[in-house]
Amino acid sequence: METITISEAPKHVGETVKIGVWLTDKRSSGKIAFLQLRDGTGFFQGIIRKNDVSEEKFDSAKHDLHQETSFWVTGEIAEDKRSKFGYEIHIKDFDIVGESEDYPIGNKEHGIDFLLDNRHLWLRSRKPWALMRIRSRVKLATMEFFEKHGFTQFDAPELTGSAPEGTTELFETDYFDRSAYLSQSGQLYAEAGAMALGRVYTMGPTFRAEKSKTRRHLMEFWMIEPEMAWMHQDESLKIQEQYIAYLVQDLIDHCARELEMVGRSVESLKPFTELPYPRITYKEAIEMLQKGGFDVEYGADFGSPEETYLADQFQKPVFILNYPKEIKAFYMPEDPEDSRQVICADLLAPEGYGEIIGGSERSYDYEYITNKLEENGLSKEDYGWYDDLRKYGSIPHSGFGMGLERFLAWITLQDHIRENIPFPRMLNRLNP
Ligand code: 4AD
Ligand code: MG
Repeated sequence: METITISEAPKHVGETVKIGVWLTDKRSSGKIAFLQLRDGTGFFQGIIRKNDVSEEKFDSAKHDLHQETSFWVTGEIAEDKRSKFGYEIHIKDFDIVGESEDYPIGNKEHGIDFLLDNRHLWLRSRKPWALMRIRSRVKLATMEFFEKHGFTQFDAPELTGSAPEGTTELFETDYFDRSAYLSQSGQLYAEAGAMALGRVYTMGPTFRAEKSKTRRHLMEFWMIEPEMAWMHQDESLKIQEQYIAYLVQDLIDHCARELEMVGRSVESLKPFTELPYPRITYKEAIEMLQKGGFDVEYGADFGSPEETYLADQFQKPVFILNYPKEIKAFYMPEDPEDSRQVICADLLAPEGYGEIIGGSERSYDYEYITNKLEENGLSKEDYGWYDDLRKYGSIPHSGFGMGLERFLAWITLQDHIRENIPFPRMLNRLNP
């Protein structure tokens, strides 16, 4: 007899097979018990009829199988037209492997703090299951997209002596006789990578000690950071929108069931596969906000209400180009058309999910970068290597960073990005 997974059931209709499962729920009457089962690859129903098993087994099914009890089932796979999955198993026998009593997460509503305290168990429930599968698929599609576009995957260090996105939000740790910082961004290293390999991308965790408690911030989040040699902003924006559209199409093609499980219709995603995405300048954004009744002036950074308002003016993600210098990072080059601002762009997601990508051209002027480092109190000792990239064969280059959980929260319509990472790290949460 073959041991299979639930996901393989469609190929085994009419066959007797063995599957390792957990119980998620059960219902029984005098002569029949309906067991809701999961095995990690999927969810389906098992049916035990009193006539098909010994009396002892039928009693055991009623009394010994609880939520999250693990067991081997053997039975025949059959079609089940009433369920979404379309298949079920007619159980002939089962053997308990691990008992489970008083499982804390019931099939009723629980508060979010309780669920997060039990995250190690909550991951077994349907919605987290679907969210983790979607996350995994996006990472795979990311690798495929960048492979197709001539990029080399490039790993930036997590322990660094440098702080590309401002020195106030760093997690500091002892590093023998000095300090090290958990990486806020792999970008500076990706720039070195682009000078060696042309087009690179990093994919890894990044850390921000931001004391913000918003639904868009994590202390530890994953970023995908492509960096492209010989590239200006126009071309970079094209790659960014192609990347987002590719991810959305890939999920439509491979994760329709998971999307449905989290309440996102495939139909509602289709418009985001159509390019181009609109582009407006920061100045146009300010005008738009003023017309919309916001009290903002040139120079202001956008918070979540502003971002949501701007995004709501469009049906698709929208690029906001060329922000004022003061609110952006030191490495961005001046806009030749207005020296108050820099050549950069943020991509705002529709539906109120805010900034999913931040990117820019990188200044390749040795003097400009040297001065900026000094202005920002970033020492030669720590950043001399970054200066070197401008000293030896400097070239125009551009890059961007996509926040994985921000993208996922938008696609899966989650109120808070904490549900899009297995174990979220937040202001008041380091466990489990
Ligand atoms: O805009 P940010 O800070 O840009 C950078 O770090 C650049 N070095 C990227 C680059 O050009 N290589 O962050 C990039 C993205 C944001 O658009 C957002 O999606 C996400 O990272 N992000 C966060 N996601 C979750 N929690 C946080 N605390 C985040 N901070 C930024
Ligand atoms: Mg940003």
